[in-house]
Amino acid sequence: MDAELTWSQVMGARGFSHTQRAEDHFTTSVDIGDHVARVVLARCLAAADRHGIEQPWIVDVGAGGGRLLGQLLDLGFPGDRLLGVDVRAAPDLPVQWVQGVAPDCVPEVRGVLFCHEFLDDVAVEVVEDGQVLGRDGAPVGPAEPADVAWLRRWTGGDSGVVGRHRDQVWRTLVSRVVLGEAIAVDYVASDLGGHWHGRRCAPADGVDISAGVEVRSCRAATGGRIVPQHRILADVVPRGAQEAAELAVLRDRSGFGAFQWLITDRP
Ligand SMILES: C[S@@+](CC[C@H](N)C(=O)[O-])C[C@H]1O[C@@H](n2cnc3c(N)ncnc32)[C@H](O)[C@@H]1O
Repeated sequence: MDAELTWSQVMGARGFSHTQRAEDHFTTSVDIGDHVARVVLARCLAAADRHGIEQPWIVDVGAGGGRLLGQLLDLGFPGDRLLGVDVRAAPDLPVQWVQGVAPDCVPEVRGVLFCHEFLDDVAVEVVEDGQVLGRDGAPVGPAEPADVAWLRRWTGGDSGVVGRHRDQVWRTLVSRVVLGEAIAVDYVASDLGGHWHGRRCAPADGVDISAGVEVRSCRAATGGRIVPQHRILADVVPRGAQEAAELAVLRDRSGFGAFQWLITDRP
């Protein structure tokens, strides 16, 4: 791979050749009990009730190995109305699956569209002092004026990870929800990072690369409300010591509890 490639080119080049399996490198909240699945199920049923959707779907964009979908099956949600979307091949689960590049391959949704740690995987440009950085850290040319404007608005400067393209992806995903709710859950940070077998490391070839999400700019693209995960899970009553331990991790404000849920009701 050329040193001059920018980070968005490196991240975008993964496509169907995306060989990194996120679960090999880090844990997400869906790996810790089935609490996220329970929240998604409850939100889906509430949205269906509110919007009069008789047969709601749950569409998991960036579904990875299908863990959340498996939990929803175990909770009794019918597999013929569960859809996973990922560049990865379908897992061995009785659910629907689209192997493709989101948002283009995502069909219309009546129910809930859920993106759990998907937006942080969307390709971003990294800019320093108005210059796009190559993956070797050297400037490769001036940033697009729209990207500089985005940085100024959301970071107050001319340097950082540019989330403009991600806002567009989110806007398209939300537009797929004909009726119901679109939810994105992600971490908020201003840098690009790598993960390699459970450890955070410098972004580089061969490691899982992601970038924290400016959820406020995503919300500006679609409307909606932002709720931190510790509040989403605040009222969950644990059934036993194991669930209490899981919930403590998921609510920890220095970790998963600080993840933001962006919830957009549609239409
Ligand atoms: C960080 S993982 C999250 C997996 C799972 N949602 C979780 O929270 O454990 C992100 C997933 O998004 C998928 N992905 C990244 N960009 C994608 C795209 N444009 N279209 C479809 N899937 C994509 C990756 O293959 C990966 O499985």
